[in-house]
Amino acid sequence: MSKHICTRWAFDLGSWKPTLTQLSQAVASIQPEERVRLMKFHFIDDFLSSLIGRLLMRKYVSTCSGLPHHQVKFARDVRGKPYWVREDIDGPPLSFNVSHQGSLVLLAGITGEASDPDFGIGTDVMKIEYSGGKSLSDFFRLMKSKFSAQEWSYIGRAQHDEWEQVKAFMRHWCLKEAYVKELGVGITVDLGKISFSVDTTHPLNSEVSPLTGTSLRCHDQPMENWHFEEHLLLEEDYCAAIAFRNCLPQVHGRFQFLGVEELLVKSLESELDDVISYCQRALLKPYKRS
Ligand code: COA
Ligand code: MG
Repeated sequence: MSKHICTRWAFDLGSWKPTLTQLSQAVASIQPEERVRLMKFHFIDDFLSSLIGRLLMRKYVSTCSGLPHHQVKFARDVRGKPYWVREDIDGPPLSFNVSHQGSLVLLAGITGEASDPDFGIGTDVMKIEYSGGKSLSDFFRLMKSKFSAQEWSYIGRAQHDEWEQVKAFMRHWCLKEAYVKELGVGITVDLGKISFSVDTTHPLNSEVSPLTGTSLRCHDQPMENWHFEEHLLLEEDYCAAIAFRNCLPQVHGRFQFLGVEELLVKSLESELDDVISYCQRALLKPYKRS
């Protein structure tokens, strides 16, 4: 397999309350149809998560391609998966995917070689918590068909207390989502037929993160062209997974946390004037938590 350079970037929304100037710079660099989509969110938290995802994508493609930020153009496929509209730009083939939950936004990206462009990446992040109204066992019963018997036997292991069960559940959820997101197929696959075996030689904690010994079977067939990383982030409050199809990163590494200044690019005054009233309206949206 050829060489693949993997980028893992994270942003902690808990560390950022945007000013009008910062928000204007951010909004000025995203496409008009994305502005329309963002304004529909009720909470500013959702607005900002999605916005930061767009900025991460833009920084990633700009870094890999050498194109200035404002010349990078994205579109979405029929299922909503964003991709870079490459036009006739030279440079390595690349794949990226964004995930956001709670205060985390992640981007995983990978580049390969032009001779071997059929590869891709997917990622997902989940907060390790159960906040549903029903009991955990009722919730698990409801989710029964989404996991294989082997996965349930791992989640419900005798040595797992309730917290460990939630953690094991979320780890499997992230792995499935990362896989599905690489494919871009949303929830149209039969998730119970996608069965992960997580690395049982190590407990997943921040010291060993990322774990890379995960394997996948689909409809009972081993999927040897897929590889996975499992990460723990933000004091072990979140788990995340990266799925690699037909590629393997040169090195397994951790997510790098970026500051907002690393995502913002100076805009022209006229561009800022265009978005200022939009941003003022966005800043009136409520926070989920104060
Ligand atoms: N495929 C891959 N990535 C996609 C995508 C698709 N079809 N559609 C959007 N994305 C990207 C976008 O960058 C999106 O960000 P945006 O919403 O700000 O535009 C980001 O992925 C969203 O990912 P994430 O934050 O992880 O959201 P999610 O986990 O709620 O949704 C979906 C992921 C929409 C792609 C899809 O997998 C889904 O519908 N999931 C439903 C949940 C479910 O039942 N999962 C079962 C797992 S056991
Ligand atoms: Mg998700």
